[in-house]
Amino acid sequence: TGYITLDEGYGNTGACESAITYIDGDKGILRYRGYAIEELAEKSRFVEVAYLLLHGELPKAEQLLQFSTRLNESSIIHEDMHHFFNGFPRGSHPMGILATMVASLSTFYPIPDELDSATEIQIVANLVSQVRTIAAFSYKKSIGEPLIYPSYKLKYTRNFLNMMFASPVRDYELDEDIVRAIDMFFILHADHEQNCSTSSVRTAGSSMANVYAVASAGICALWGPRHGGANQQVIQMLEQIHADGGDGTEFINQAKDKNSTSRLMGFGHRVYKNFDPRAQVLKQQCDKLLNKSGMTDPLFDIARRLEEIALKDDYFISRKLYPNVDFYSGLILRAAGIPTNMFTVLFAIGRMPGWLAHWREMLHAKQVTITRPRQIYVGETLRRYQDVDQRS
Ligand code: CMC
Repeated sequence: TGYITLDEGYGNTGACESAITYIDGDKGILRYRGYAIEELAEKSRFVEVAYLLLHGELPKAEQLLQFSTRLNESSIIHEDMHHFFNGFPRGSHPMGILATMVASLSTFYPIPDELDSATEIQIVANLVSQVRTIAAFSYKKSIGEPLIYPSYKLKYTRNFLNMMFASPVRDYELDEDIVRAIDMFFILHADHEQNCSTSSVRTAGSSMANVYAVASAGICALWGPRHGGANQQVIQMLEQIHADGGDGTEFINQAKDKNSTSRLMGFGHRVYKNFDPRAQVLKQQCDKLLNKSGMTDPLFDIARRLEEIALKDDYFISRKLYPNVDFYSGLILRAAGIPTNMFTVLFAIGRMPGWLAHWREMLHAKQVTITRPRQIYVGETLRRYQDVDQRS
């Protein structure tokens, strides 16, 4: 094993070449296809950003219309899939449902061994559009309300919120500011180069596995509390602080305690060692949204105070731990009425174009190399087999 270098968690290993997303962790820079995240968050819309990630260029008006229409036309899931929702036990985590349902798309939408570009584009449209339908349906099932189908009249984010919150028995009016905030949330989550879930997509995809199963692998990896699952945990932590009436010092002390496994959720990042630009945009967006009349949230003040305390603490300063994308994002989702257990599902909806952009980039590379890392073996050397009655 002399030539194998140990790099746990691949912190220093470039696993591929990619032209999709650029990050400079020291300077807090994030760009999709060369465009600054701050500019995209301010001026663009999620569907446009999805096109940019997938195709490398911002769409012209005609291309955007075509893409958007295709997403609408691909948004319905096979009727027979509806039965599956009834099979999950009550209280199932929506991420478990999402991963299962997305993998099951492989059985309803079989794909040929050899992909032509038309099929590839349709697969991408199915996944980007249907992940949103499945997410909304799983929520409706969980609260026992009738499913609201996607509408060809509504654009992507509006359509999603309508499927989540409209009902045949009550009026539901979409709030423009909420639609914009959720759309921005999706933009900020759309890609982040070789993070845990995207690496899982590339790893599973490198065996040429069915792409619906590959997308499901991404969802499974995202679920963990150290990755996308952190957004749910942040809100649970803030709710706990609110209920206890403290300022969060207890959570900070626990996170600093090396005898405990707990961490300050929404803090720290493998790549950003100064600030996470997504967290800054989200904090501003929170401020804007929660300043609207009737939308205040005591958890926002708690979050700001907690950030202040942590940023003055030597433990966090010396380890360069700053708020990450998950620290403020949950407050926006709460303001939109999204239940806490759906937060990571919304992350998955946002990340789907990024996963697929990486899958396509890998597929079209000169050569697809199967992901197969080596290891440093630290187990037993050769041992002699003993019959069962001779084992001590
Ligand atoms: N609270 C307390 N200590 C922390 C934290 C935290 N949130 N994050 C890192 N540390 C400590 C860690 O214990 C270690 O200390 P020491 O050097 O004394 O052993 C040091 O900082 C370096 O940590 P690491 O685990 O080597 O860093 P990493 O790059 O492997 O981990 C991370 C990055 C994001 C997994 C980690 O910071 C973490 O678990 N954060 C909390 C969970 C979270 O917010 N995740 C969302 C990440 S951003 C969005 C996404 O990817 O989904």
